Order: sequence, then structure tokens, then C-alpha cells
Amino acid sequence: MRLSDLVEGIAELIRHSAGEGVTIHTDLKAQGWTLCDVNQMENVILNLAINARDAMPGGGTLTIQTRDVALKTPPPDVAEFVPGDYIALVVSDTGEGMREAVRQRALDPFFTTKPQGKGTGLGLSMTFGYVRQSNGYLVIESAPGKGTKVTILMPRHSEDRA
Ligand SMILES: Nc1ncnc2c1ncn2[C@@H]1O[C@H](COP(=O)(O)OP(=O)(O)OP(=O)(O)O)[C@@H](O)[C@H]1O
Ligand SMILES: [Mg+2]
Repeated sequence: MRLSDLVEGIAELIRHSAGEGVTIHTDLKAQGWTLCDVNQMENVILNLAINARDAMPGGGTLTIQTRDVALKTPPPDVAEFVPGDYIALVVSDTGEGMREAVRQRALDPFFTTKPQGKGTGLGLSMTFGYVRQSNGYLVIESAPGKGTKVTILMPRHSEDRA
């Protein structure tokens, strides 16, 4: 599957998930292929779009980018890294951002800062689980008032295998 095609295919759903007041930019330059479960990957992107929406109650911009990348060194916070060719899927927002203590716990199951009944705290932990199971990586960069950038790196495969 090409992640760029996958994002294009759910553009309407992304717009719907992000809600009114959020401008969406897409910049889909990755040409490479990756092995993924289409439904799971769609859920990943929609979950990230909903998190972005929740972080921008007053509106803002949600940007979705894809890139082919060749990584020689591990991204921040990543252990057990395998150098090689990856597809980067980057979802960023201009929302409230996270304090460092929140950023460090954001992938924990059931960790949420949302009011009771609003968030289960499972969105990012399930996303992380799926990405790791696919031999990919997930990196969160965020700071209060600076927005949030979530980068997912999925291994690149030749077309016939993907
Ligand atoms: N884009 C973002 N901007 C700011 N904070 C975020 C963002 N994404 C996640 N977070 C923080 O990380 C926490 C965990 O996110 P996660 O998606 O796992 O759970 P949730 O959104 O709270 O609930 P759920 O996804 O299960 O509905 C959030 O409660 C929030 O504090
Ligand atoms: Mg969520």
C-alpha cells in the first residue's frame, strides 16, 4: 500500500474528523510502498486527526505529510532501531501542545487528560502497538503552545511485496 494513496482515499473522513474551524493541508510526496493493514492504518490517521481536533478547540491547521526517508540514525527516544528505508507519515497540528510530562506518557494505555467520558486514553497506545508490530516507529514532538507533531515511520518495501 502507498500511504499517500491511503491518505487521499480518506481525505473526506479526515476533514470530517477534524471538524469545522480546522484547515487541512496535505503534502503527500512519498512514492514508496509499505506493508500495512489498510483498516488499521486508516484508524491510525483518523485517531491522530481527532487528537488534533481536540487540541485545537478554537480552530487551527492540521497538516498531513508523507515522505520517503532513508534513516541511518534512530529518531528521538527510539531504542532498537533498524537503519533503512522508511515511509514517514507526519501529522502535525497548531494546537495547545503537550507538557513534557504529558508527552512522555501519551503512549501509555488509558493515559488521558480529557474529561471523564471523553477520552479512553487508548488512541495513541493502540496506534503505537500497531506501528511497532509493523516494525515501524512513532515519535511525538510537542511543547505547550507550540503544537504537536506525530511522526510514524513505516518500513519501505518493494511494490511486489507490499
Ligand atoms: N495532538 C495532540 N495535542 C495535544 N495533546 C495530545 C495530542 N494527542 C494526544 N495528546 C495527549 O495525549 C493524551 C493521550 O492521547 P490518546 O489519543 O491516547 O487518548 P485520548 O485522545 O485522550 O483518548 P482516546 O483517543 O482514547 O479517545 C491525550 O489525552 C492528550 O493529553
Ligand atoms: Mg485520542
